[in-house]
Amino acid sequence: MIKILAFETSCDDTSVAVVDSNYKVHANLISSQVTHEDFGGVVPELASRLHLKNIMKITKATLDKAKIKLKDIDAICVSINPGLIGALLVGVSFAKSLAYSIKKPLIAVNHMIGHIYGIKLENPDLEPPYLALVVSGGHTELVNFKSYDNFDIVGRTRDDAAGEAFDKVAKLLDLGYPGGAKIDKIAQKGNPDFVKFPRALNRKDNFDFSFSGFKTAVRYYLHEKDKDYIKNHINDIAASVQAAIVDSLTKKTINYAQKERIKTIIVAGGVSANSLLRKELKEKARIINSEVHFPSMEYCMDNAAMIGAAAIDKFKRKEFAELSLNAFSTKGLRLI
Ligand code: KG4
Ligand code: ZN
Repeated sequence: MIKILAFETSCDDTSVAVVDSNYKVHANLISSQVTHEDFGGVVPELASRLHLKNIMKITKATLDKAKIKLKDIDAICVSINPGLIGALLVGVSFAKSLAYSIKKPLIAVNHMIGHIYGIKLENPDLEPPYLALVVSGGHTELVNFKSYDNFDIVGRTRDDAAGEAFDKVAKLLDLGYPGGAKIDKIAQKGNPDFVKFPRALNRKDNFDFSFSGFKTAVRYYLHEKDKDYIKNHINDIAASVQAAIVDSLTKKTINYAQKERIKTIIVAGGVSANSLLRKELKEKARIINSEVHFPSMEYCMDNAAMIGAAAIDKFKRKEFAELSLNAFSTKGLRLI
């Protein structure tokens, strides 16, 4: 059994984990940077500085919690893209130095592939093929995942990501950042049919997503209403916003699974925490005789354990990175 020390610093969470080749998580520590809340979004320079400040002590705490010595680690892995370049660089530089100093292999992981592999942490026996809906603050992708190195992105957003749509609308509603969880919470007390916001690219054979028209519709809607009206109906508006986003995500996922007769669907990324998405997809998947797997809350958000999970296959294939490894910010789900 091999043990991997994993690093994730692509955005505003500094996370370090120890995962073994049976996908058992020995420790998974996440330090979420609350500083950004005051600015209504992630400030890249602040994110990098906080990663730098915390990464050493989180690494020590993770090894302590896992009761593992650095010398007993078999490989070090790190997410190298996509993300904020300065933030990624902290993790990559730290992981490289550590790999060099303990003379163990280094493994580079794409953050989005990490989200997909995160499902293995709680379902170690789940093997592709499956359809993965990857929904985060920067990505919305529907992936026909046939094997580790054979997957097709069959749908993607043409503008905003689903999480971004939640965050931007939350900002319009003065709910603060990050907005997804806040909308989710108050939407539970609201009426999802209160406003019928538009669902874009609604044709059954179109698997791309688009949220910019929806966002503009919300903006116009709010513009027409006075402050008291919005305040009195905030739960209903949030519920209607959530219903529109979830409706698009659910329909396209189910339509594709039905068309291709895919029996296993997985959902990954921060938006997979959404309670309505979890409920709707489970219900609709049952109707087409497919099963759907969501990560538990701990693994929905950015975390290093999922990066470790993705590194296991790479370790087995000896796909190691050179110490000249660099981070890059380019969007997208790719092998690295
Ligand atoms: O995967 P993640 O932690 O970071 C990125 O890689 O982007 O995803 C963060 C996104 C944010 O946009 C946040 O608003 C959204 O996930 N999110 C949610 C919920 N919890 C987090 N969106 C909807 N409902 C939630 N409960
Ligand atoms: Zn993420």
